[in-house]
Amino acid sequence: MIRVIVGKDYDEMSKKAAEVFAKAMKSAKVLGLATGGTPEGMYKELAAMNQKGEISFQEMKSVNLDEYIGLPEGHKESYRYFMNDKLFDHVDIDKEKTHVPHAKDKNDDAACVEYDQLIDSLGGVDLQVLGVGVNGHIAFNEPDNELNYNTSIIKLTDSTIDANARFFDKREDVPTYAISMGVGKIMEAKEILLLANGKKKAEAIRQLLKGDKITTACPVTLLKLHPNVTVVIDEELEGAL
Ligand code: GLP
Repeated sequence: MIRVIVGKDYDEMSKKAAEVFAKAMKSAKVLGLATGGTPEGMYKELAAMNQKGEISFQEMKSVNLDEYIGLPEGHKESYRYFMNDKLFDHVDIDKEKTHVPHAKDKNDDAACVEYDQLIDSLGGVDLQVLGVGVNGHIAFNEPDNELNYNTSIIKLTDSTIDANARFFDKREDVPTYAISMGVGKIMEAKEILLLANGKKKAEAIRQLLKGDKITTACPVTLLKLHPNVTVVIDEELEGAL
């Protein structure tokens, strides 16, 4: 049974998601974090809660879902930059204990193996934050006939490159490959918090909440098999389901 929480707009949705996150933090040691426009508001709320002393990241370790391949270090659209800028620089986390996958090129399979070993050595993820792509992807696990269990290198689909082009000067600047945690590793997390807002995510969320199928053609539907999932959405998305 998937829990669904609806906020009236993006701000309220972000607050409600931050409450779920803060509650899970009471027993969590390893946070699985996501990038993208969707969780930005929640990270802002969490930073405010941290500054008020309501929550602490001091004992926390984190692993991120994914990272583009080929962006120079420190690039503003890299997911490492995003995490520092949106969360880590504003909370009391030890940055040495934050991990974002990194592959030097599209053949860097060793980086994938090492990342899964790292997750295992931390004892696995307690709370995994997820967004969802317009096409139903989670992390960078794109719709396909089969999906990877473990961390792997993914060729991004045209749909994802189109969706992410808004963050870059031109579409050609969007990397075409990424390193991404696999769906198995995501499903190993003890708890999952999925955020989605706006009509454009309605088809993917409809398949998760209302459809009967579990299909690799819409990776987010795999979450139907997870025992502890909370989905936080806004009213615009709810109205489009
Ligand atoms: C990106 C990321 C995903 C993210 C998704 C949605 O490509 N790899 O982890 O959940 O697409 O992004 P947004 O929240 O900006 O819509």
